[in-house]
Amino acid sequence: DWTMNAYKDDAIDKIRKQVGDGKVICGLSGGVDSSVTAVLIHEAIGDQLTCVFVDHGFMRSGEADQVVTLFRDHYNIPLVHVDASDTFIGAIEGETDPEVKRKTIGRLFIEVFEQEAKKIGGADFLAQGTLYPDVIESVSFTGGPSVTIKSHHNVGGLPERMNMKLVEPLRELFKDEVRDLGRELGLPDSFVGRHPFPGPGLAIRIPGQPITREKLDVLRKADAIYLEEIRNAGLYDAIWQAFAVLLPVRTVGVMGDGRTYDYACALRAVTSTDGMTADFFPFPPELLGRIANRIINEVNGINRVTYDFTSKPPGTIEWE
Ligand code: XMP
Repeated sequence: DWTMNAYKDDAIDKIRKQVGDGKVICGLSGGVDSSVTAVLIHEAIGDQLTCVFVDHGFMRSGEADQVVTLFRDHYNIPLVHVDASDTFIGAIEGETDPEVKRKTIGRLFIEVFEQEAKKIGGADFLAQGTLYPDVIESVSFTGGPSVTIKSHHNVGGLPERMNMKLVEPLRELFKDEVRDLGRELGLPDSFVGRHPFPGPGLAIRIPGQPITREKLDVLRKADAIYLEEIRNAGLYDAIWQAFAVLLPVRTVGVMGDGRTYDYACALRAVTSTDGMTADFFPFPPELLGRIANRIINEVNGINRVTYDFTSKPPGTIEWE
């Protein structure tokens, strides 16, 4: 694509001008945005870039391995893998307020990046895959009064005092443009086509209740089954984003000849072009039935599955 090729060259130029001979740290989340940011910056400044993958314990199943493999083996980009799950889970255990969770996670991310920066003798810049919609939505809601809907950890969630300056080469782009740029940079299609995944991860998909490792495990299992079924049905690419949410309510069920009293989960799937508006995805009911059955049978701790029919607006895509 000619336009994206020109955009890429221009972006590389700007990064070189901004960074000079400084050192850059880039947080990788496994998502498209941070991956494209990292590969772009690596093209611009090579080994002045160090990538850091922070496992905060709120990742989906298999995610950490996929990221490490892609970057180390495929791209040969230096990558530090930090297991900080004890710190992150410890910090928000018992916290139920969505904004407090987001801000705490944002602050801890920066602390980890600053520690890693020290280890490489200091870094001058922190790179982030902030997109245009992230900027808009963290600042104000389209058409309305200036009000924060959510502090995306990579925009409004940053601490005021930070030693590093930001490099955000995707700040003017929408998701579909980032995907084009990713293809231009040679990222595999399987990666470029991935559904978005929020920085705070599963921590914002366990609303209204204290987060524990057990609950994270339960959610991870349900989420994996849901996505496996969506892939098997050939629907992954037709959906902008799909995920499970663990609800803070227990309900009565019956299994075999016993009573169950377990948690309910909600399934969310939406179509969208930029994440700013979205419609619920109209699954065939049989497929939803099969997914519900599998989750209830295979995941200990869930005995009821519901589907979220809310569009955005008035809902948001994530529940928190
Ligand atoms: P909402 O829930 O605001 O989400 O409708 C819009 C899109 O943004 C993703 N999202 C995030 N991405 N950091 C991110 O990098 C965040 O803190 C964050 N919060 C939400 C969300 O998954 C959806 O694709």
